[in-house]
Amino acid sequence: RRVGVLISGSGTNLQALIDSTQNPAANMGCEIVVVISNKKDVEGLRRAERAGIPTKVVNHTDFKSREEFDMACHAILQESRVDIVCLAGFMRILSAPFVRLWRGRMLNIHPALLPLFKGTHAQKQALEAGVRISGCTVHFVEEDVDAGAILVQKAVPIEIGDTEETLQERIKTVEREAFPEALKLIAHGHVYLNTNTNRLVWSR
Ligand code: GRF
Repeated sequence: RRVGVLISGSGTNLQALIDSTQNPAANMGCEIVVVISNKKDVEGLRRAERAGIPTKVVNHTDFKSREEFDMACHAILQESRVDIVCLAGFMRILSAPFVRLWRGRMLNIHPALLPLFKGTHAQKQALEAGVRISGCTVHFVEEDVDAGAILVQKAVPIEIGDTEETLQERIKTVEREAFPEALKLIAHGHVYLNTNTNRLVWSR
């Protein structure tokens, strides 16, 4: 299977996806064929270049509307014959038409245990709520933000004295495992989304 990764920043999740897909022993059943960033000069683009993966910058400020930006990304994904899209720290909300085009084939990673703490500043939300465990979630993308069927979750403790930054670092250590795990499940067809019921179908 052919994977396209959308990023906006440092790309530590992208790096985990690169490392796993380029490691034959990981048997991921897929390869990353293109990395798209809505920001130029970000570390994630350099990570892709170092790994020999084609990159594209699609600057959202060059487009009149969200839909036009999304369709420019869609065109690149199609040209690259992408089967599966991974949102790895992609900080744009995608329009409904784009989400519908990739329904059941697009994954996102969120730095909290969904359905808790959707949206931005998930780590801050967790600290303010006073929960003692948080983590990350890899899920299918639906039109509602951070709402789709959940593929993989990993938990981390919240320590006394944690700040948004220290919690984010701890969550990132499990994100690096969770995203490749979820991608592998999809790429091998071990699980898929029943788009009528919105539920996962597991075949193992
Ligand atoms: C991650 O914490 C992810 O959960 C969130 O954005 C961050 C991206 O980090 N959606 P990186 O660009 O992968 O380093």
